[in-house]
Amino acid sequence: MVESASLDQASGDQAPGDHLPGHQLLSVAAERAGIRLGDPDWTDYERRFDRHFPDLFRLFHQLYGSRPDWQEHLTSLLVETARSWKDRPADLKVLDAERDGTSDWFQSNRMLGGVCYVDRYAADLEGVRARIPYFKELGLTYLHLMPLFLAPEPLSDGGYAVSSYREVNPKLGTTEQLRELAAELRANGISLVVDFIFNHTSNEHEWARKAAEGDPRYSDYYWIFPDRAMPDAYEQNVREIFPEDHPGSFVELPDGRWVWATFHTFQWDLNYSNPEVFRAMAGEMLFLANLGVDILRMDAVAFIWKQLGTSCENLPEAHTLLQAFNAVCRLAAPSLLFKSEAIVHPDEVALYIDPAECQLSYNPLQMALIWEAMATRNVSLLAQALERRHNIPDGTTWVNYVRSHDDIGWTFADEDAAELGINGFDHRRFLNSFYVNRFPGSFAQGVPFQDNPRTGDCRISGTTASLCGLEDGSPEAIRRILLAHSVAFSTGGIPLLYLGDEVGQLNDYQYAMEDGHEADSRWVHRPQFPAERYAKRTDPATPEGAVFEGLRRMTAVRSGTPELAGTRLLPFATNNRGVLGYQRPGEGTRILALANFSDDPQVVSAETLSGFAAEALDLFSGTTVRIDEGIVLRPQDYAWLRVMPAG
Ligand code: GLC
Ligand code: GLC
Repeated sequence: MVESASLDQASGDQAPGDHLPGHQLLSVAAERAGIRLGDPDWTDYERRFDRHFPDLFRLFHQLYGSRPDWQEHLTSLLVETARSWKDRPADLKVLDAERDGTSDWFQSNRMLGGVCYVDRYAADLEGVRARIPYFKELGLTYLHLMPLFLAPEPLSDGGYAVSSYREVNPKLGTTEQLRELAAELRANGISLVVDFIFNHTSNEHEWARKAAEGDPRYSDYYWIFPDRAMPDAYEQNVREIFPEDHPGSFVELPDGRWVWATFHTFQWDLNYSNPEVFRAMAGEMLFLANLGVDILRMDAVAFIWKQLGTSCENLPEAHTLLQAFNAVCRLAAPSLLFKSEAIVHPDEVALYIDPAECQLSYNPLQMALIWEAMATRNVSLLAQALERRHNIPDGTTWVNYVRSHDDIGWTFADEDAAELGINGFDHRRFLNSFYVNRFPGSFAQGVPFQDNPRTGDCRISGTTASLCGLEDGSPEAIRRILLAHSVAFSTGGIPLLYLGDEVGQLNDYQYAMEDGHEADSRWVHRPQFPAERYAKRTDPATPEGAVFEGLRRMTAVRSGTPELAGTRLLPFATNNRGVLGYQRPGEGTRILALANFSDDPQVVSAETLSGFAAEALDLFSGTTVRIDEGIVLRPQDYAWLRVMPAG
């Protein structure tokens, strides 16, 4: 009782650092980490300690302050940060200093991301290294390599079932090669992004194996219960993520106990109510940081905290945890950034985006609504989302994508849709049938994912090109691909290409024959490196070349247009439901972006444009155009115009 009262004080109005003898702790950390005081390197750490330790203290106390041993855990965590800083390679410390306190580098209009599976795209890490010249040709400044650490095959969920966070999958190379690759990418102006899969481990991770054997210490690393009582209670409120894999959220162990598995049966959720788990994972995170990773993709952030009687998604403690991990980075690996992977309700997505939490975030709403507008030829929902859900805090950015390695879930808010007279449930049903080509007139060649007859839920798999219907090689399909990317490239944030999409890769039905992939339709849009398509990329008479050339042009124009840096966006009503419009303000000038989602030519009227000066610069043709008599956009065409206020 007495103990908790005094700890409560510590988190009260008094600065926590004062209450807890902060500097005493600092010397303990230095001593235990074997650091010589007065070392200039250590002075840097001390400076950051003064700035960020109060946060870490507060957050850690919020999470674990009710436990008698919480201060010991905090001290050990601090020692770990000091040790990790001591071991941080000199070149990374230089980068830390360069990036200190600036977000300009990742908000630049020159940023362009690419993502690929190492094995499928390039065989191994050496193969990725050999592709650096191509990445430069494409203009990449950010490369996300899909999970590449040890994961038992064939059931690894594409590497998302991690059995070691430190050992690179030997099929792909060695940890040393990864370190070298990170350095070489950096030397070529490309930041390395890898996943931090911290919600769960594989059931073959050493911790999981010990837990399964009944070791009480490691049983506490997971959510393991002796019988069905607690699982039944939790399952009252949690949703099923992979219902085709197993019902509910728990799986039975051979000894009759039940373990929490949100995703697949072989992916066991870590128990962050145990501070030892936080510490252990902070250690794994700092290991990745010191390998030279620039950005961690924080996998499945919505699920990391559980609380009986709730949906166990997006709980306040999930944010506290992320902020605590972030504070650990500020001490030990200051330039490391987090990208949030929260594919949830847009209100919830926004809550993860904060300079002190996740500086980057996937933009799942924009992604889903690009496809929605493409199916309906109506931009209302997308325009509404840009108007009310696009602007995010200073020091953060979106990652805008058309396709990722995952399925498309229709994550728009039902409330938003209702305002436009759209019923969310029915609309999702329509979108699902449209994208699996069961709706008359659909051009899309998608495949259902996790069709759940019980709830009516379903999501969509398929490559960008197949969802646009490029199987027929039609000019419309090519234009749809470019149209979708024009939005991701200009609304603000880092555009992220699923590599292979820039040459229009099609669905790959081979997965049905691949060991461990057959039951997971997401593999349909994770093809092997499409060598033949890449070979045609310089021939604009081919669909491959047309898509490639269009995207290259977009990249070039984007990087020459300073107004497209950052994320600030102003809406623009086109008064035409087929045409999306938005403005990107710069210094004195602004960019007006227009995108015609309909199959017919569309007019944006003179009156609609009358707030702007008569002449504008068309960024794609490089010519001055008159806009005072209105603009006509061809079917599936887009335009970026530098406009001036009417004066
Ligand atoms: C994330 C990944 C997805 C994976 C899941 C479980 O959502 O993007 O591919 O299946 O996490 O790790
Ligand atoms: C993610 C999402 C879910 C997604 C899945 C991977 O974390 O919550 O919508 O589809 O995991 O497929």
